[in-house]
Amino acid sequence: MTGAVYPVPPEVAARARIDRAEYDHRVASAAANPESYWMAEGQCLDWITPYTRAKATSFDEGDFGIRWFADGTLNVSANCLDRHLATRGDQVAILWEGDEPGETRRITYRELHAEVCRFANVLKGRGVRRGDRVALYLPMIVEAAVAMLACTRIGAIHTIVFGGFSPDSLADRLRDCDVRLVVTADEGCRGGKRVPLKANVDRAVANCPGVSDVIVVRRTGGAVTMVEGRDRWWDVEMATAAPDCAPEAMGAEDPLFILYTSGSTGKPKGVVHTTGGYLVWVTTTFRDVFDHRDGDIFWCTADVGWVTGHSYVVYGPLANGATTVMFDGVPNYPDHGRFWKTIDLLGVTIFYTAPTAIRALMREGEDWVTASSRASLRLLGSVGEPINPEAWEWYHRVVGDRRCPIVDTWWQTETGGMLIAPLPGATDLKPGSATKPLPGVLPEIVDAEGQVLSGACEGNLVIADSWPGQMRTLWGDHDRFFQTYFTTYPGKYFTGDGCRRDEDGYYWITGRVDDVINVSGHRMGTAEVESALVLHPKVAEAAVVGMPHDVKGQGIYAYVTLNAGEAASDELRQTLRAWVRTEIGPIATPDAIQFAPGLPKTRSGKIMRRILRKIAEGDTSSLGDISTLADPSVVESLVAERQ
Ligand code: WT7
Repeated sequence: MTGAVYPVPPEVAARARIDRAEYDHRVASAAANPESYWMAEGQCLDWITPYTRAKATSFDEGDFGIRWFADGTLNVSANCLDRHLATRGDQVAILWEGDEPGETRRITYRELHAEVCRFANVLKGRGVRRGDRVALYLPMIVEAAVAMLACTRIGAIHTIVFGGFSPDSLADRLRDCDVRLVVTADEGCRGGKRVPLKANVDRAVANCPGVSDVIVVRRTGGAVTMVEGRDRWWDVEMATAAPDCAPEAMGAEDPLFILYTSGSTGKPKGVVHTTGGYLVWVTTTFRDVFDHRDGDIFWCTADVGWVTGHSYVVYGPLANGATTVMFDGVPNYPDHGRFWKTIDLLGVTIFYTAPTAIRALMREGEDWVTASSRASLRLLGSVGEPINPEAWEWYHRVVGDRRCPIVDTWWQTETGGMLIAPLPGATDLKPGSATKPLPGVLPEIVDAEGQVLSGACEGNLVIADSWPGQMRTLWGDHDRFFQTYFTTYPGKYFTGDGCRRDEDGYYWITGRVDDVINVSGHRMGTAEVESALVLHPKVAEAAVVGMPHDVKGQGIYAYVTLNAGEAASDELRQTLRAWVRTEIGPIATPDAIQFAPGLPKTRSGKIMRRILRKIAEGDTSSLGDISTLADPSVVESLVAERQ
């Protein structure tokens, strides 16, 4: 049912913090006087030294720089914890739900504060200082939030590596930002299976001489090897640590965390977010887009290993004094009703998940959903990839009982928080559209030459000016930061996404226009998968593209040319899939592998990905001009052998 419009329900508008008039007012005041608008927005936080200026940014090569609230100082953990103690010390801060139903933990703001101070002291005791890098390779347990906040308390920079990444991927990240200390767990639990986190750390750290300390949380009690002098148990260290630790006054522009994400080359990019602007952004966007109020139980299903978990499981909710759910399980364990049962169990009022999860659960039928009450829900959210209108309608009708608005939020690791999203009390919804920019955000659509298009149009999405939550650099490679994001369309931030704008000014993201694919809402660089494949001794060459996938959004389609004398077989196909899993992690496992005697290349040797994409999509009727290929006949055999 494309073309449908869902007006703001009157009862939602009546209670919302921001209604249509207020949205229009904010957009206008941000445009009329950006400095005074942002000066006021920054007041959502407690500052140790107040800032005297908000915005000091330029996307132009001559005076390029991004600084927000730069002369202010603050502490992130004090904003997420200390400032709530007087009013909500006994309120639950984190509601933890384990992999097994019934495994739960509730931790109040006061308890969380004490735990964070203790772990901050543990870190100090291991010699971690302001500016040092600490890696977290953890399941979705309370200790992950404790470790994040403890880093911020002493000014250490955390880098979280998703527990699904392989030892090699972990080691690359530990080395890239020179990590001193790693926090992990004995094992993780996912859908009833164990993940050998500590064993993976052992293998990774063997190649990382800079790592001097490993702290291990006991999650399952599974057997692990502890290295004398290097490894310590979390509980043993915490038992003797003091429960108070003064928060360090950090500059607004001091790095807060590094998070690696995939780009168009084989090397993941260390996205750097800083203290003041990032926290302002996640605090205000959480408050406004989820229209958060006291008493809400907020559940974002993302893992803290991704940016969504940083911004909307931990920092945004806690800075607002919310109750946030941390879920250490998966949507289909022990059965397909897990999400909905958990919503009832915890009384969740706002639920934020990814389209891939919605599509997967939609396939299992409505009964799993309708067996639950979901009466507590008032708002639903979507993030990570475009949501197809069919999935949107199902989410709205079946999960939300037609009662709950859906906020489809477009953003990226690089943007820190949401940029294009509806406000539930202000924005009419169109299924499949992330709707309109948040106040102060200036999206533009440009054509291939960089001409800014107006009115209803389609092209590439850029952002014309900075916002506080924007990334500041790539760790150790400021040049690559500028090259990647600000040179395609000089003077503008290039998102890498294609986008359509309709006659009502609504934005419809059409997907990545670069060599990045979006698999189940997770970003994967095609070059990363190719690098992993060619490491295999039987592989001569590989080209990887995205293909449409019913549940994952996009799947990974790999064309592989074998070395002379090697025979293609189903067995080798399985071996290569397993190989990529071990090299990068399960999320990178190719969905299809096609053995190709040759790849379509131009005479200068460049692989024509456009053609490979078309074949993977099964759209072989419109391959376009292939006459410029060095050997046009390879295309025929590729089409014939399509997987
Ligand atoms: C890419 C960023 C946002 C945090 C999770 C992913 C795609 C994200 C939407 C949405 C359409 C979306 C874009 C973007 N994307 N949200 N609501 N509608 N597309 O962060 O891994 O940095 O990926 O995800 O293509 O560029 P990420």
